[in-house]
Amino acid sequence: MSSRLPRPACPSPRAPRNASPDGKFWLVNLAGAEGDVLGIGGTGGLLALYWKCPHLGCTVPWVPGFQGSQVNFPGVNGWFRCPCHGSTYSRAGVRVFGPAPRPMDTMLLSVNGDGSVNVNTGKITGGAADNPLRAVAYNG
Ligand code: FES
Repeated sequence: MSSRLPRPACPSPRAPRNASPDGKFWLVNLAGAEGDVLGIGGTGGLLALYWKCPHLGCTVPWVPGFQGSQVNFPGVNGWFRCPCHGSTYSRAGVRVFGPAPRPMDTMLLSVNGDGSVNVNTGKITGGAADNPLRAVAYNG
């Protein structure tokens, strides 16, 4: 199973993320190490995050107005936040709070020569702290 997204459907860095209702994922365009809240690195690019919460499976929305902790993440606004039990994830899907056992899962993503993007919705990798390193370079 695969979703093909045309070039205009790809979000620019810092723009709202595009959800794909068909494939049940969020497409995120990370600007540099954005979303790497644990400091492991990351050069940015596209990431397809499976929107099923790794805790008990609720759909995780992007909440643009949600603010990060003033202690740990001052000035970071906008997080993925599960409405069921509050698990909270960075733009790269890295878990920072809540009962989820891991970061959000990712789907295999590739960029075509015309700037369109393929997301293999059947190829899901369990989320981990290295989510930011899974981003695929994109010059959209
Ligand atoms: S299902 Fe998402 S935190 Fe429980």
